[in-house]
Amino acid sequence: MSGKGPDTGAGRASGDVVRRVAVGITGASGALYAVRTVAALLSCGTEVELVVSEFGRRLLREELGEAASLDGLPEYLATRYGEGVRAGNLVVHSNRDVGASIASGSYPCESMAIVPCSMKTLAGVAHGLSRTLIERAADVMLKERRPLVVVPRETPMSLPQLRNMVACAEAGAMVLPAMPAFYQGPRTLDDLADFMAGKIVSALGFPHELYPPWTG
Ligand SMILES: Cc1cc2nc3c(=O)[nH]c(=O)nc-3n(C[C@H](O)[C@H](O)[C@H](O)COP(=O)(O)O)c2cc1C
Repeated sequence: MSGKGPDTGAGRASGDVVRRVAVGITGASGALYAVRTVAALLSCGTEVELVVSEFGRRLLREELGEAASLDGLPEYLATRYGEGVRAGNLVVHSNRDVGASIASGSYPCESMAIVPCSMKTLAGVAHGLSRTLIERAADVMLKERRPLVVVPRETPMSLPQLRNMVACAEAGAMVLPAMPAFYQGPRTLDDLADFMAGKIVSALGFPHELYPPWTG
């Protein structure tokens, strides 16, 4: 896991096919879902193209502490989730850089998750606004017919917010609300985050052991 900068191939044997996934973190509550998802993807050896909005950065610090600030994120993930996260590669982009690699459909980024997704960014994705890199990369996923998972968090929801979720679903995104379940018997906040992260990485096509499958 190299932190900011181009792919160095660190942590992978030569000849391995790199799976590349974009992750957007926006200013909705639920920073724990975001870091758990990024850690799970990295542990699969994935290259994670990470974009954090200004309010997403604030949420990381406010909900997880200074150690989870963007600059220290690689170390934070390794400390919290183990050295296995170093199997992947973390590339950080500025949300203002709408000319970054993931802003183009020609870049081989197979899918994207926006977790958590604020109502503002949800609206931007629903209406194809592409005002920021997160919105543009999401637009690219939709136009290229690649998987896009949006994880909205708000309650209660207004009619425009509900309509924006429908618009995202109609455009081809998977709307996966931040709604952890209780049938697994969660005891900690990490258990709840594991459940949500497991749902997200499953939707992106990655194996995981974040929660046991329901067997009836
Ligand atoms: C502490 C805090 C918690 C917030 N929680 C939410 C939330 O759960 N859902 C939401 O849609 N917006 C929430 N907001 C508001 C968004 O952060 C705000 O609309 C922001 O402009 C979103 O911008 P972004 O999508 O570029 O991150 C929160 C803001 C703060 C400061």
